Amino acid sequence: MRNFFARAATRAAWPMAALSRAALSRAALSWAALSWTALSCLAWGSAAAQGTYPNHPISLVVPFAAGGPTDVVARSLGASMAKTLGQSVIIENRTGAGGTLASQHVARAAPDGYTFLIHHNGMATAPALYRKLPFNPLKDFAYVGQVADVPMTLLGRKDLPADGMAGFIKYAKQNGDKVNLANAGLGAVSQLCGMLLQESLGVQFTTVPYAGTAPAMTALLGGQVDVLCDQTTQTIPQIKGERVKLFGVTTLDRIKALPDAPTLQEGGLKGFEVKVWHGVYAPKGTPPEAVAKFNAALRAALKDPVFTQKMAELGAEIVPESKQTPEGLQTWLQAEVDKWGGVIRKAGVYAD
Ligand code: MLT
Repeated sequence: MRNFFARAATRAAWPMAALSRAALSRAALSWAALSWTALSCLAWGSAAAQGTYPNHPISLVVPFAAGGPTDVVARSLGASMAKTLGQSVIIENRTGAGGTLASQHVARAAPDGYTFLIHHNGMATAPALYRKLPFNPLKDFAYVGQVADVPMTLLGRKDLPADGMAGFIKYAKQNGDKVNLANAGLGAVSQLCGMLLQESLGVQFTTVPYAGTAPAMTALLGGQVDVLCDQTTQTIPQIKGERVKLFGVTTLDRIKALPDAPTLQEGGLKGFEVKVWHGVYAPKGTPPEAVAKFNAALRAALKDPVFTQKMAELGAEIVPESKQTPEGLQTWLQAEVDKWGGVIRKAGVYAD
């Protein structure tokens, strides 16, 4: 009996000890974070006072693989922004977990005006898809502005025995899970598009995830996967080079960059629409002056003919000025979080 009480007492004491240890380490972490933020702000304050921000290269984190659609937008944008900032914008690819590892990294980075993130719709779907998400898109960031909207295309490997949307639908229904569908992981827009596609067709493909749609495209070109839904910023050169089979675009209307491509809606998938939007973020606590300077460089890039022409060739549409602002991005993100939260929870699709 004494042993029982002794064991029970030990069991009861252990969580208390663990709790106080956890509380202590949390306090230490908060203190460290606070000091780090305070130090960054002090350092930043004196740099700003001397008018020297930015005085070294800035890192723009991309949540997917190099060479993919997000990376293509980020590299062109960074090159253009560097002209205004007078400093290089270094692209840092941090892949994994549908883009959430990169977001987490930036949410926890020093808020000193030297780390930013570019992300797409995945920022808004993450809170519903990942129930244990270690950051909050609506609370842990400073918002810079939106960049461009990009349509997606439904592609097959070049030798897929199906032509046009009618041929694709027939092939998909006949082959079901024998069809390999590539994507960039849960939370990627390629996954979202593929999910809607399977739902619209009433079929279940076999999904093959990659660290981005750049490696997914390599697999499609090599014939290791059959189908990929991906953004025009990566797919147009492959479509024009006739290295893939194009079935259609995911916008409700045809797009200027691919005028002959039918929409999936025209092909029989009524109301099918996926459009990708991009936002630029900084860690919360980034000095407003740094956000304002980065935003001014962003807005200048969105008027730079080198950038805008490249985006137009790749099917991307620069967002209107009202969305190029911190408020424009924040309002849009909130609406998207609400919209996708409902859809995802109803579908019961979770990544964890
Ligand atoms: C990428 O850059 O690889 C894509 O944006 C990933 C995705 O499909 O979301």
